[in-house]
Amino acid sequence: GILCDVIVKPEARVSCTPDPDGDEAVCKSRGCIWDAQNKKNAPTVPACYFPPDSGYILSESIDDNKAVLIPSKTSPQNPFGQNFPELQFSHATLGSVLKISITPIGFKRYTPPVPLHLNDINATDNFTVSVSNPNETFSFQVIREGTNTSIWDTSVSGLQFADRYIQIATYLPTDKIYGFGENVHQRLKHNFTKYTTWGMMARDQPPQSTDGEGENLYGVHPFYLGLEADGKAHGVFIFNSNPQDVTTGPAPHLVYRTIGGQLDIFFFPGPTPADVITQYHQIIGKPFLPAYWNLGFQLCRYGYAGTEEVKETVARIKAAGIPQDVQFADINYMDEYKDFTYNENGSWKGWPEFTDYLHSQGQKVVLIFDPTVQVEYDTFLRGIEQNVSWISWPREDMVQRNITDLYPSAENTTIMLSVVWPNKHVGFPDFLDPTNITINWWADEFKRYHEIQAFDGIWIDMNEPAVFGTNQEKPYAFDHAGHPNLTNLMCPMEGADSVYDVPPYKTMSVYFRRNESFMAESSLCLCGRSIRGSSNLYNTRNLFGWSESVASWKGLEVMRGKRSVVLSRSTFPSSGQYAGHWLGDNSATWEDLRDSIITVQEFNMFGIPYVGADICGFFGNTTEELCLRWQQLGAYHSFMRNHNLHVTILQDPAQWPTVANATRQANLNRYRHLPYLFSLHFHVSRFGGMVVRPVFFEFPSDPVTHQISYQFMWGPAVLVAPVTEPNVTKVNAYLPVDAEWYALSDINYGQAIPSGNGTFDAPWTSLIPAFLRAGYILPRQGPELTTVAARVNPFELVIAAKNNNSTKTGIATGELYWDDGDTWIPVGEIEKHDFAHFIFDFGYNASMASLNIFVGKKMENQSLPTLDTIEIFG
Ligand code: GLC
Repeated sequence: GILCDVIVKPEARVSCTPDPDGDEAVCKSRGCIWDAQNKKNAPTVPACYFPPDSGYILSESIDDNKAVLIPSKTSPQNPFGQNFPELQFSHATLGSVLKISITPIGFKRYTPPVPLHLNDINATDNFTVSVSNPNETFSFQVIREGTNTSIWDTSVSGLQFADRYIQIATYLPTDKIYGFGENVHQRLKHNFTKYTTWGMMARDQPPQSTDGEGENLYGVHPFYLGLEADGKAHGVFIFNSNPQDVTTGPAPHLVYRTIGGQLDIFFFPGPTPADVITQYHQIIGKPFLPAYWNLGFQLCRYGYAGTEEVKETVARIKAAGIPQDVQFADINYMDEYKDFTYNENGSWKGWPEFTDYLHSQGQKVVLIFDPTVQVEYDTFLRGIEQNVSWISWPREDMVQRNITDLYPSAENTTIMLSVVWPNKHVGFPDFLDPTNITINWWADEFKRYHEIQAFDGIWIDMNEPAVFGTNQEKPYAFDHAGHPNLTNLMCPMEGADSVYDVPPYKTMSVYFRRNESFMAESSLCLCGRSIRGSSNLYNTRNLFGWSESVASWKGLEVMRGKRSVVLSRSTFPSSGQYAGHWLGDNSATWEDLRDSIITVQEFNMFGIPYVGADICGFFGNTTEELCLRWQQLGAYHSFMRNHNLHVTILQDPAQWPTVANATRQANLNRYRHLPYLFSLHFHVSRFGGMVVRPVFFEFPSDPVTHQISYQFMWGPAVLVAPVTEPNVTKVNAYLPVDAEWYALSDINYGQAIPSGNGTFDAPWTSLIPAFLRAGYILPRQGPELTTVAARVNPFELVIAAKNNNSTKTGIATGELYWDDGDTWIPVGEIEKHDFAHFIFDFGYNASMASLNIFVGKKMENQSLPTLDTIEIFG
């Protein structure tokens, strides 16, 4: 009929069959347009797409900031439900930040219980909003005042808003779009030459970048940064926790889809990339400050046989002269994989005593904890007794009796029992419990265990949440000896109870390369109730890791009362206030080394700067060369840990003389620069911002930098050019032409280096190329084998002076933050904390040079090492 004559050009389509099975018949039944030609010629172009006048029309404007929308009578139906009869569109400002909300009138919709900091943020730039005319297809535009750049323009396709399917699409002003996560991205800048859809649902999914990009990983971050043609930057954050996905298309445009909640969209005006990020972090919360020792080198392995093996490992690293601050233990230390226990009668005898010994050496111990609590042991029983909230079945008659009947302690519960590492079934606490009972019980379990073993930090894994064997008939048994066959968790797959587990649209997380077709694959059923029955995992699954981070942060506070870290696999916006992140189960491949460089930059954008990958790779046997290059790269990532899987070869850096040598050199260089790295962390904890940042953040008006993926900035002052391929001993790098540079690594140390493209030597026996940007001053300290020992050494400054400037000051600046390294800082209270802040300002003219040191803040109760050495480049 009429619709078939309307053609939208192939570059600007919004698919009407994002579920991959939509053929011509499905397309037509949805009232959408089918284009057989393009199906053949350009496989990523949607063959089935919405007509341009789809969705809602504007019915009435209530005032300047509010309007009522009603479904268009001529539009095709929402393909995955009935569009709500009335929506309210509204916009409001928080200073210069714009918030747009779209929600159905008369229905309560889910909003994540993540507290945002909704204070006014004032910037030089602001947005205006304009909406389409009454009785026409509804669309709106967000426009940057002054330049008139259209940041969002939703006229690309109409809005869809049903109970379980919400879709909004917009033209973008630029194809320079960075962010969205957690996904495998093989380039920092998104590729807009084709259509690509990225799933965002927390899941236990290793990166597997060798198989191509797109995979949907452990956390959810609906945030991106766009760089406009004139170099101004904006940010967009969509505050929604349901499973969701986003398509980038060539117009350039994007399509955002979520299967629940409502649309709450924040726009950040920048205008610099760094401004965008600090504005975003002010809303979601600024990152926690790690303890000083958290910035040291850390070592782990899944599969240590016992205390003896850990002892030998630490001794081997020390004998090789490699600085190491932290030794981890994985699930092996536990008694049959039960949290808050250790295998005291077996091979982990003496484990608490060894921890004490490490403390006497200035070293620390971090332990893994899973959110799974096995039935029938004291932690679980205490939980039952205290009325802890668990993820549970919504009704008595849904309880899997064939599981609960096995366990007296679980008999009368509706807890959704499932299978993870332990030898019996497990329950998952619901950390979103608003009564605090669950958080207090969890924190108390840490405290109790800490009295047995005085460990220092908390590693929380499997919190997507991850479950083994869901919906599989065959009993699940994993490859650790002694694990019995356990009956799997089965989710309702048909009938009225299946609405959450088999929703009409399952998002790209499920459709991407999967044989399964249900949401709960490798997780709990989404019908599982949470927040004491007021919600369910359909809404809260993506918040599980966030809420466990909050609870475990409380654990740190009560068990030790000292600053430390929670290291979490699953994250959500605002996680960075409580936790750091490692990039999960990567592989020992060059692709994964490269992708880690991108993901670390993205997590810094997401407000989680304490981040790093499993150095040398988790799955698969690493190689001498890959491990060497990864140790060199990882020395610039805030969380620096080598970790791998039990069935792979040993890969601690002392396994090869070459790797030991390169790691010793890289770690000593890192430890020398820790005052700088610590100051970067302190700065972002105070103001928001990024520690590791894309090169273009510092040089937004240099277009060459917009395409760079594998070089990065370490703060504003240092550019790092890692080796990312095998069989090379040179690196090609681009040093932005708007700056002057000096070599900071051992080759040509302190020499001026021409800007532009260059080729730099990178033999195995030297540090990877790194460059100091003229105009900056770095605080440093002589390195030692631990941070405890290094922290008392005298300070040094290295000053990179700018050339050709006759002014006397401002030729180079820098700052140093310092504190005692491990005092507990409650969330949001960094200003009350006892710290020192110094600002350095260097200048010179023909006759003299001067260095001014301004004391921004003094420490009240402590003294600092002296400043003994000043080195000046140029
Ligand atoms: C998960 C973690 C990994 C850990 C393993 C055993 O796969 O991501 O780091 O080694 O579980 O606990």
